[in-house]
Amino acid sequence: MSTPPAEDLFVLIGHPVARSASPAMHQAAFAALGSRARYLALDVSDFAAGWEALRRLEVRGGNVTIPWKERAAAALDDPSPDSVLCRSANTFWRTPEGRLAGTQTDGEGFLRALWEAFGLAPEGLRVAVLGAGGGARAVLHALARGGAAALHLWNRSTARAEMLARELVRAGFGGELVLLEGPRAAVARPDLLVNATSLGLRPHDPAPATAAAFPGIPFAMDLVYGSEPTPFLREFTRGETRVADGRLMLLHQAACSLELWLDKPAPLAEMRKALARVLGEAV
Ligand SMILES: NC(=O)c1ccc[n+]([C@@H]2O[C@H](COP(=O)([O-])OP(=O)(O)OC[C@H]3O[C@@H](n4cnc5c(N)ncnc54)[C@H](OP(=O)(O)O)[C@@H]3O)[C@@H](O)[C@H]2O)c1
Repeated sequence: MSTPPAEDLFVLIGHPVARSASPAMHQAAFAALGSRARYLALDVSDFAAGWEALRRLEVRGGNVTIPWKERAAAALDDPSPDSVLCRSANTFWRTPEGRLAGTQTDGEGFLRALWEAFGLAPEGLRVAVLGAGGGARAVLHALARGGAAALHLWNRSTARAEMLARELVRAGFGGELVLLEGPRAAVARPDLLVNATSLGLRPHDPAPATAAAFPGIPFAMDLVYGSEPTPFLREFTRGETRVADGRLMLLHQAACSLELWLDKPAPLAEMRKALARVLGEAV
């Protein structure tokens, strides 16, 4: 097999990457667009060495996944303002001057997923978010920017939730901001509950919250996804709540990356089919 020219090469760096759906989605997208670009997953256990290799390889762009999104945001030559705000980068590209620019597409991917799953736009929405890591930051800043009316935060480590609340205020969020005392609804109830903790990644994880703690919640979205329903999904599927897991966000954050690299609409149908093949069911 011949090696493609560097300008046609995109890479994913993370650790581990073997089970990532990104190569399948992006390769399907390139094929649908008639592009001969290639997308390779590189398992990078030493970030500094991996980043240096990226520069030497002169790849056209790529993605960053767990655990390197924060390190990548700090290592970019030209991080977007959103990437600086969220201290996270999952997408990068080489500029004509040879600099590495990048941003995070998790926030926009989340908003698109919310629209597709539930027909919900952020404006006026009352949202409770569990977790205060990189995923939660991206989701919360996107909701704040989109005009959410209320953001209720809970995190296992309270100090992290408090810091995130301060960051949201500094970024200009002027709506109702509540630090929840536990993973349960405030008196003024939210419309949407989001799980942005990593609970559900491991097979025997408990759900991060009970349905009883969020009585009558209309919508619940998990950032976690897998080939089996997540514990969060199982917990909230029992009542009237409409639920979705993280696969739609995964699809849409990938589509956002592709649009940034190629400056054209992503072939969503082909990417969706590729993701369904990886996960073994419909997306
Ligand atoms: N679908 C998508 O496209 C997409 C995109 C981004 C992220 N995600 C998923 O979202 C999840 C979070 O990702 P991340 O990047 O935000 O990770 P992260 O930065 O490592 O944050 C992990 C979060 O989970 C919390 N947590 C971990 N173990 C917990 C436990 N036993 N009980 C309660 N809370 C716990 C942490 O709380 P502490 O602060 O107390 O440690 C923290 O808030 C991951 O499962 C990731 O795969 C999905």
